[in-house]
Amino acid sequence: MNISFLSVFLLALVFSFQLINPFVSCQQFKADGSVLELNESNFDSAISAFDFILVDFYAPWCGHCKRLSPELDAAAPVLAGLDQPIVIAKINADKFRRLASKYEIDGFPTLKLFMHGTPLEYTGPRKADLLVRFLKKFVAPDVSLLESDVAIRNFVETAGTHFPIYIGFGLNESIISEFAIKYKKKAWFSVAKGFSEEAMVTYDFDKVPALVSFHPSYNERSIFYGPFEDKFLEDFIKQKFLPLSMPINYETLRLLKDEERKIVLTIVEDETDEKSLKLIKLLKAAASANRDLVFGYVGFKQWEDFTDTFDVTKKTKLPKMIVWDRDEEYASVIGSESMDEEDQGSQITRFLEGYREGRTVQKRIRGPSLVGYINSLISIRTIYLIVFVIAVLMLIQTLQKPDEDDVPQRHTVAQVDDSSSSLTKKQSREYRPEDKED
Ligand SMILES: *[C@@H]1O[C@H](CO)[C@@H](O)[C@H](O)[C@H]1NC(C)=O
Ligand SMILES: *[C@@H]1O[C@H](CO)[C@@H](O)[C@H](O)[C@H]1NC(C)=O
Repeated sequence: MNISFLSVFLLALVFSFQLINPFVSCQQFKADGSVLELNESNFDSAISAFDFILVDFYAPWCGHCKRLSPELDAAAPVLAGLDQPIVIAKINADKFRRLASKYEIDGFPTLKLFMHGTPLEYTGPRKADLLVRFLKKFVAPDVSLLESDVAIRNFVETAGTHFPIYIGFGLNESIISEFAIKYKKKAWFSVAKGFSEEAMVTYDFDKVPALVSFHPSYNERSIFYGPFEDKFLEDFIKQKFLPLSMPINYETLRLLKDEERKIVLTIVEDETDEKSLKLIKLLKAAASANRDLVFGYVGFKQWEDFTDTFDVTKKTKLPKMIVWDRDEEYASVIGSESMDEEDQGSQITRFLEGYREGRTVQKRIRGPSLVGYINSLISIRTIYLIVFVIAVLMLIQTLQKPDEDDVPQRHTVAQVDDSSSSLTKKQSREYRPEDKED
């Protein structure tokens, strides 16, 4: 009696264990380095079966999705082979709309990395090798221990260019580990245990302990010599997530999403010309003295649609500085609406003084807010253009029989994807957006 009761109990236990054991579901999903095709009925169990799973929410008719697909196929076996594997899966989000709306999918393709079940929007590159490199950040050790100069070099090389890098020299890793965990998704953290004097020259520090930070994309480096107390240390780390003066484009706007500071935006004619480079240097100096504001710049030539948001047209005298609240308003400083070529350093100072003293005029922006920009990935001008193109296409369709069945849908894709770069020109030819890869 007792024994049979026990065996039933054990059986039940084994059975329920089978139900909840993730290992079983892993087998069900065959994590063999191929891309899993999920559907509504197995989506949730896939998410809970893997610690790290990147999901591609795609639509069968979307051109960008088709181009992404072979990249994911190539990345999947590499990611499956990591010490901490990352599984790649995809789901037809056009068919399984309930899931699409649950995860707020508003464009195709959308990639989300689920870490222990929690989704994080993937904003990295979409070429297989770069995608692998970007994702490695999320499964890397919180603090990497580097034993030699060679190890430091390799670490920096592997880290790539997307995240800021912090290297502690002569620093006990326990001192930065709290922040390395807290900011794991934003930066690489490491401690050099062995290094030569050459490394001191390369990284430009002259005593230890030192925490060196640099951002490979922006060519900016800083050194922190202490005090290594939580507040100072965290302030230093947080300040270095963003460059002192950042170029504003779709990628960097996303970085500003969690910012709370207002943005001092300088609109120049062309970001890359000699005059602008000089001005950017001055802006960096101003930025380091005004840490309560974020400094950014954008070229009229580089992103006309965005500058249009702040009433800049061909006739506007540039450079022009404004302070954007990231929402729907921006401030112009009376008497400092635009800049002359001479002595721009003092003009920046006057602008900031005027702003702090409240000699400003508040204006409403013409385009979307920052979050609006990021969410919609589309500007007012593009809507006009799309309406125009659709009208033309409808006209053509009425004149001749259509020979392409996916014409209207392509536009949806274009709205979502294309806005990353100079919209107008690219879209007007044949409406085939390029991916915004680097
Ligand atoms: C979901 O996919 C699994 C595995 O491919 C399959 O067995 C199941 O029938 C599918 N369910 C639906 C609703 O399509
Ligand atoms: C680093 O700090 C930890 C904890 O504070 C301590 O146990 C360890 O001995 C320290 N290591 C070195 C090399 O100082």
